[in-house]
Amino acid sequence: MNVQNKPGPAPAQLTHQGRAVELPVRSGSIGPDVIDVGGLYKETGCFTYDPGFTSTANCSSKITYIDGDKGELLYRGYPIEQLAEHSDFLAVCYLLLNGELPTNEQFRDFSRTITNHTMVHEQMTRFYTGFRRDAHPMAIMVGVVGALSAFYHDSLDINDPDHRRVATIRMLAKTPTIAAMAYKYSIGHPFMYPKNDLDYTSNFLRMCFATPCEDYRVHPVISRALDRIFILHADHEQNASTSTVRLAGSSGANPFACIAAGIACLWGPAHGGANEAALNMLEEIGSVDRIPEFIKKAKDKTSGFRLMGFGHRVYKNYDPRAKVMQKTCHEVLTALDITNDPLLKVAMELERIALQDDYFVSKKLYPNIDFYSGITLRAMGFPVSMFTVLFAVARTVGWIAQWKEMMEDPDQKIGRPRQLYIGSPRREFPMI
Ligand code: ACO
Repeated sequence: MNVQNKPGPAPAQLTHQGRAVELPVRSGSIGPDVIDVGGLYKETGCFTYDPGFTSTANCSSKITYIDGDKGELLYRGYPIEQLAEHSDFLAVCYLLLNGELPTNEQFRDFSRTITNHTMVHEQMTRFYTGFRRDAHPMAIMVGVVGALSAFYHDSLDINDPDHRRVATIRMLAKTPTIAAMAYKYSIGHPFMYPKNDLDYTSNFLRMCFATPCEDYRVHPVISRALDRIFILHADHEQNASTSTVRLAGSSGANPFACIAAGIACLWGPAHGGANEAALNMLEEIGSVDRIPEFIKKAKDKTSGFRLMGFGHRVYKNYDPRAKVMQKTCHEVLTALDITNDPLLKVAMELERIALQDDYFVSKKLYPNIDFYSGITLRAMGFPVSMFTVLFAVARTVGWIAQWKEMMEDPDQKIGRPRQLYIGSPRREFPMI
């Protein structure tokens, strides 16, 4: 089979068993064209084969754009660096959900609505006591976010735009509360109710770190840094967890169940779990003199070891989020007067050595967002097990925006990949 793509929107020519087939080519606003293979099976009796979707677009979207070679990330057209510097997380949520930055009035209304929905149904607290104290907070997140559909029946009709709107607000508002409760439960503290005079991120920090006996004074640098970390993680187009949310939603499942599916996918170490894995790795390395040993191991395919926080399916250049993350890491450590963090020293030296090593250079393996996020979150006081939970809190808006876009897309149909069957052909059941 041989595909010759003509420039521009002219159709691609594919020859299969001597027969020429024309496949339409579609152009986006920026980025690579796509060859529309939707009619291929009908025309040729063949499927396409692309495990891991390395060359396959599953949808069209207006939300997020990544140029992996340039190291560029845009939310609704705005560069991530500018949003991280000049905006805040709730405004970015509004942007991702609605397509435009909010006016002052729209922002006031939006944040008031979110703030008024931060409490969870009181009966949900009993849900937590069913989990073991040593349960991983991501396991609790999967269960409790999924359980929202058992508590909020009045926002489950996916075909009703008002139900979709209410479900969106509930998930955005309640995910930080659920996450903070997962943390509090794991350390045996009483849950802290949200406090409505605080902004979204400060409220989350307080729910995590205050106790009924001692309030938590929110440090403005820490709150701003966490808000920025939320912005950096808010969306990342069709990554594994977002694709999971879309696939779950394509069957008509309710939004709470879809987001729970996204959280489950995010948990894996090749995805959101990498920040936890990166920090564990830095701790295992421990000191600068052991770096060469770990670099050697990462290059040895038989070791099964990879440099965590390095490499990315899409970025073949420095992850633009990693640059902002590195700066945020320095700001947080300075604000907390941590002048000589040994892990930061190891991370910076590891990055320097890897970026000069031919193995990493030739494979275009650069630090990703997870490389510095663990050091930063740990300095803020979060245990390692909460890192992916924080990612889930931030990514909830991206998942919902993508789910909402899919629900409003007239071309949407149930996701149903095909396969190349390599098992036994038909055979008869042995009659003994
Ligand atoms: N350390 C050492 N070698 C690596 C690494 C790494 N971190 N990442 C990739 N490679 C090598 C692979 O061995 C492979 O080598 P080969 O071509 O000689 O076989 C080559 O680079 C390409 O790797 P793939 O796994 O094919 O690349 P893919 O795009 O499938 O994987 C991934 C991307 C999963 C992120 C990978 O780089 C990885 O495992 N990184 C470590 C985990 C991590 O940091 N994940 C976070 C991703 S960002 C996020 O989810 C927010």
